[in-house]
Amino acid sequence: MQPFKAYLADESATDALGAALARALQPGLVIYLHGDLGAGKTALTRALLRAAGYTGTVKSPTYTLSEPYRVMLDGKPVNIIHYDLYRMASPEEFLDAGFREDFDGRNVCIVEWPEKGDPVLPPPDVRISLDVSGPGREVELQPLSDLGLLCLDRLAFVPPR
Ligand SMILES: Nc1ncnc2c1ncn2[C@@H]1O[C@H](COP(=O)(O)OP(=O)(O)O)[C@@H](O)[C@H]1O
Ligand SMILES: [Mg+2]
Repeated sequence: MQPFKAYLADESATDALGAALARALQPGLVIYLHGDLGAGKTALTRALLRAAGYTGTVKSPTYTLSEPYRVMLDGKPVNIIHYDLYRMASPEEFLDAGFREDFDGRNVCIVEWPEKGDPVLPPPDVRISLDVSGPGREVELQPLSDLGLLCLDRLAFVPPR
């Protein structure tokens, strides 16, 4: 499966990608977000949640590790759960918090620092990598399952210029 690549010249391009992803989401989708601190993982998630209709503040769940958002997708209520596992000390913490049960085929799960969830974090449908490049960001989206392929097939994204 070919990855989809784009250059996000500024934050408005990240916002546009988040909005396109929000329109392409499927219930049960698991997205891993890779990239260094400041690459734009939280910015992309925030843009996605805004476009999905969430109007409140979206902060990085740095200390809580997870934050759920209830939105409507295609007229149906869906939880989008945003994780930031950067500060997770051990895989047991993930299991003890009951996070594994969140990955139930209905919730959309978006995970920053998935590396920290190894080996208990369920596998992704889509892997997104963000890299600082000049003033902007290189982004790569890789489908890793049929559901991920469906999502990226539906993704209508042309970077703004
Ligand atoms: N395409 C882009 N080009 C330049 N700056 C961006 C772009 N997208 C996001 N940013 C900025 O990069 C920073 C990303 O921070 P954040 O989303 O918290 O990173 P992370 O969650 O990956 O640690 C923010 O200051 C945001 O304004
Ligand atoms: Mg972050």
